[in-house]
Amino acid sequence: MPKLTLNSKTYTQHEGDSVLTTLLANHVDIPYACQQGLCQSCLIRSPNQTPPPESQKWLQETQRARNFLLACQCHPTEDMELELDPNEQPFLTVSIVSTKPLSDDIIELIIKHPDNFDFHPGQFINLRRHDGLVRSYSIANCKKTDNTLELHIRKLSDGKFSEWAHQSLNTGDTIEMQGPFGDCFYIQSDPEQPLLLIGTGTGLAPLAGILYDALAQGHTGPIHLYHGSRDQAGLYWVEELSKLANTTHNFNYLPCLSGEEASSPFQSGRAHDEALSDFPDLKNHQIYLCGHPNMVKEAQRKAYLAGAPLHRILADAFTASDSK
Ligand SMILES: Cc1cc2nc3c(=O)[nH]c(=O)nc-3n(C[C@H](O)[C@H](O)[C@H](O)COP(=O)(O)OP(=O)(O)OC[C@H]3O[C@@H](n4cnc5c(N)ncnc54)[C@H](O)[C@@H]3O)c2cc1C
Ligand code: FES
Repeated sequence: MPKLTLNSKTYTQHEGDSVLTTLLANHVDIPYACQQGLCQSCLIRSPNQTPPPESQKWLQETQRARNFLLACQCHPTEDMELELDPNEQPFLTVSIVSTKPLSDDIIELIIKHPDNFDFHPGQFINLRRHDGLVRSYSIANCKKTDNTLELHIRKLSDGKFSEWAHQSLNTGDTIEMQGPFGDCFYIQSDPEQPLLLIGTGTGLAPLAGILYDALAQGHTGPIHLYHGSRDQAGLYWVEELSKLANTTHNFNYLPCLSGEEASSPFQSGRAHDEALSDFPDLKNHQIYLCGHPNMVKEAQRKAYLAGAPLHRILADAFTASDSK
């Protein structure tokens, strides 16, 4: 069985385990969240070996060249030396500017980012609680002169981070932030291209970032936003987005309810089913899918079958993290 060496200590890697699983089983303090290669919080490096390709798939060319790897995606078959590099993607201490409810179970959290922090609206950041628990949240706003980021956090029952954020985070508190990450954001390659935005729950956060960024950059093609939930309590910003749709000629908004009878402005049905039925031919669209992993997976497949090339389907699945 391969051996992992970190800080002069050696750990045995059992078959089927990832480097992350092995290190955690040996009580090594390493940040992690999604365990699916998305959040990049488990980034480490090997000082002298090329890591297995699957552990570098999501990384930038420059990180690959320096032997960085995602510990949760790394299953080495040979002995491997490892080192933690906190300077590569440091967690920065940031302060909470405000929190306010957006619905019964969703809060808006405004945090102040450092001057040199650059991002695209729709990307996500990792937040780290003081005990090391890390979770990812998407950026819902365009760049602002007051250096603020807007996050939408839904409270899950027994959700370790989200319940704590709802109950305990207050104006003036500090938290650690890392990022930004992800490639689900607006790129103005063709300002006339139709955009189809589909999201469930707080999947609206990255989609709002993308929508406002596209409008700010002068996108002239039609933008259709389908926001879905089982019931009305799961939707938010219905009034604001309806108003925006009424005053913006190229923006159309459809809030969808999959679990109850709907009347105007709501539509009955699942957001992605409604979108795909309204747009059966997607070969010219740019598509953004955010929210529940099952919706994202199914909508990706259906959009592809409706003619959308894979490189024009950008997605952020809000995958759950395993317990720490
Ligand atoms: C790229 C990315 C972007 C994200 N952006 C956002 C965002 O903008 N807003 C937001 O609220 N969340 C977002 N998430 C999800 C977020 O990172 C956390 O997973 C979520 O807040 C739950 O964390 P928790 O510690 O409260 O729950 P946990 O303690 O991890 O889980 C509690 C229970 O809830 C279940 N669960 C976990 N996540 C989900 C889910 N998404 N849907 C249904 N059940 C779930 C778990 O299986 C478990 O049973 C994002 C995730 C990713 C990967
Ligand atoms: S990428 Fe490894 S924990 Fe998220």
